[in-house]
Amino acid sequence: MTAVPVRRTARLVLRGFRGEDLAPLAALNADPRVMEHLRGPMGLQDSAAQLARFRQHWDEHGFGWWAVELPGVTPFIGWVGLARPRFEAHFTPCVEIGWRLAAASWNQGYATEGAREALRFGWELASPRLEEIVAFTAPANGRSRRVMEKLGMRHDPADDYEHPNLPPGHPLRPHVLYRIRREVGGGMRKK
Ligand SMILES: CC(C)(COP(=O)(O)OP(=O)(O)OC[C@H]1O[C@@H](n2cnc3c(N)ncnc32)[C@H](O)[C@@H]1OP(=O)(O)O)[C@@H](O)C(=O)NCCC(=O)NCCS
Repeated sequence: MTAVPVRRTARLVLRGFRGEDLAPLAALNADPRVMEHLRGPMGLQDSAAQLARFRQHWDEHGFGWWAVELPGVTPFIGWVGLARPRFEAHFTPCVEIGWRLAAASWNQGYATEGAREALRFGWELASPRLEEIVAFTAPANGRSRRVMEKLGMRHDPADDYEHPNLPPGHPLRPHVLYRIRREVGGGMRKK
């Protein structure tokens, strides 16, 4: 199994997922506030499968989702990281950046702080050398879009798309896409 690199920021530790993360991960995934713009609350089994996929992603790609820890405070507040989306769209294949935190930790800048570190990690990768990182969400997910904007990512309405994993007419099917290029370097500057 790949040893997931530990990355530290001013307030956070980004680390590989451990078995004991399952309970707080399942709690976060079961919270309707967290899942409002995603496909609804998830049960324990789905969270366990997700945790296994997260570990496998690091093995397959050399990057992935980190568990986010508030050192000395909370061992797990959610996750942030980079991934290869498994669906096909006009912008795939690509590498996405994403985040999901427990509601008690929102609005303190944690997602942006963790994501800046994830971007930095992405630009440092030698193989694959990334020229662009994308992020996507439902248009109504203002919190997530704000994080994308704070990272310096740009939204072009011409990139808006229908998520292929959802049926036509599903309220979460329309998506917005944000992009950032290596030369813009979001995450390069320390906060
Ligand atoms: C998206 C999420 C990770 C953001 O985490 P966070 O740690 O609160 O993010 P930050 O504190 O770094 O930034 C949040 C920003 O959104 C703003 N915000 C809060 N509520 C908002 C709303 N309803 N609409 C628009 N912006 C909002 C905050 O004011 C802040 O911006 P500011 O720094 O300019 O004031 C968190 O809300 C979450 O886990 N949501 C549920 C899961 C999810 O939707 N994940 C993304 C899927 S694409």
